[in-house]
Amino acid sequence: MRRHHIAAIPGDGIGQEVIPAGLEVLTALAERQGFALDVETFPWGSDYYRQTGRMMPEDGLETLKPFHAIFFGAVGDAHLPDDLTLWGLRLKICQGFDQYANIRPTRVLPGLTSPLREVAPGDIDWVIVRENSEGEYAGHGGRAHRGHPEEIATETAIFTRAGVTRIMRTAFGIAAKRPRKLLTVVTKSNAQKHGMVFWDEIAAEVAAEFPSVTWEKELVDAMAARMVRRPQSIDTVVATNLHADILSDLAGAVAGSLGVAPTANLDPSRRFPSMFEPIHGSAFDIAGKGVANPVATFWTAAMMLEHLGEPVAAAALITAVEQVCAAGVLTADVGGSANTAAVTAAVVAAIKGANS
Ligand code: IPM
Ligand code: MG
Repeated sequence: MRRHHIAAIPGDGIGQEVIPAGLEVLTALAERQGFALDVETFPWGSDYYRQTGRMMPEDGLETLKPFHAIFFGAVGDAHLPDDLTLWGLRLKICQGFDQYANIRPTRVLPGLTSPLREVAPGDIDWVIVRENSEGEYAGHGGRAHRGHPEEIATETAIFTRAGVTRIMRTAFGIAAKRPRKLLTVVTKSNAQKHGMVFWDEIAAEVAAEFPSVTWEKELVDAMAARMVRRPQSIDTVVATNLHADILSDLAGAVAGSLGVAPTANLDPSRRFPSMFEPIHGSAFDIAGKGVANPVATFWTAAMMLEHLGEPVAAAALITAVEQVCAAGVLTADVGGSANTAAVTAAVVAAIKGANS
């Protein structure tokens, strides 16, 4: 029997609620589809920090390394600084395992309504490819003359030929496998004349390796407007860490809720385990109430199954989620009144009731 070793890190806030929900549907799928999941859950995060002074143990990366995938909830705490919690856990894993490709699909699921008046079902089907290892979030910069009027802070965006080339190859490769074979390369090369012009140049170089893909350039501000005005014109998008971070929140919003938006932090070379997480974060305003939308986590789990070589199970999970959403079993963020447990139970029932 195929066995997949999963490291689960629920982390903070609603991560504690949605990751167990995700594991429940994964267990139902494994039984149905004839594979086994060995799951080890790690209690790392902000509570762990309060007990130990660290977000994860010093040898945490070594511990995670043998796993086939990491199933991650969220990080962020109302009482701790974001940079401490984020850099101490999630970014440490992303950077430590060189998960340079962050993949963010967006669709309006059946039963959900886009806030865009003219969007019909099927109109939005995007994949945003976010550079995840450098750019504006490389952590490069510093502070000097603290507390003085001359105090200075720099946050340097880092773009390397290796880094830009590999994300372009990933994005063109994804676009080439999609029906429309259309890639939009997003930059701000009119104003940022070094790093962003470099992106455009490397995009053109890599494009030559993918003759089947139609590609175009778009400035990030114009892209934000286009996502609202002409969402049907978009398919695959590649952008820097910062730009894609912003555009992917917009994408989640136009799809109906950030509560349904999944993501995969991939090391496409597979030297290290990749990490799968819902985009929404720890949402401490609703944490502990059992009302978080687990759909983002289910969709994330489907991406993890794809990565693990279980495409049939991945498709079965998406089908089950679509059935449950279409039937109106929805959490409050998408206009329903079901809680996390009810949506999870409905998805498990749909999986168990499926014919395949
Ligand atoms: C996301 C989140 C994170 C990110 C935050 C929490 C730093 O906004 O996954 O988009 O930007 O990476
Ligand atoms: Mg974000």
